[in-house]
Amino acid sequence: MVKLTGNKKVKTAVFISGTGSNLRSLIKFSKTNRSPISIDLIVSNNPKAKGLGFGKIFKIRKKILNFDKKNQSENKLLATLKSYDIKMIFLAGFMKILSKNFITKFKGKILNIHPSLLPKYKGLNTHQRALDNKEKHSGCTVHFVNSKLDSGKIVLQKKVKISRNETKHSLAAKVLAQEHKLYPRAILKIFNL
Ligand code: GRF
Repeated sequence: MVKLTGNKKVKTAVFISGTGSNLRSLIKFSKTNRSPISIDLIVSNNPKAKGLGFGKIFKIRKKILNFDKKNQSENKLLATLKSYDIKMIFLAGFMKILSKNFITKFKGKILNIHPSLLPKYKGLNTHQRALDNKEKHSGCTVHFVNSKLDSGKIVLQKKVKISRNETKHSLAAKVLAQEHKLYPRAILKIFNL
């Protein structure tokens, strides 16, 4: 689905808002020989995002934009992405919705990870909603981003079992552990690797 040219890794950016555990797993993956991508920029709308610490540890540049003035922020961001030659974007716990204009500029080049088995439980508070509905399974999904929230083409999903005494916290931890494996696998898949 995404073509590799030559043997250079494709430059990418990861967008975060919080802890950044998916960012960390993507950075680790990007440093392996089999990874088709490198991570060259971390973007956050939140200057206090814990995940920004990984920028320091792994010496990756960071860009912080508050997104209050969305158009302005996105235009600045587009210029930054261009100047760093970023070809793909991975959303990982990024809590802002990108505009249609922005998404069009990176058409088919933005992935997101979502903590549910889409199309079920789009949006927020997925784990509690799955528990409230007495689901037997939940999971996570990596999908392409289009202009409709959590609705783009699905790349990969991983199912987890909901146990009897599951809480939204235990379920979140269970799903997150799978997210860390699923995102790299989804990247390999879109590069046909
Ligand atoms: C993950 O569960 C992700 O699916 C959701 O937000 C959480 C982010 O976790 N969109 P982290 O910041 O990667 O640790």
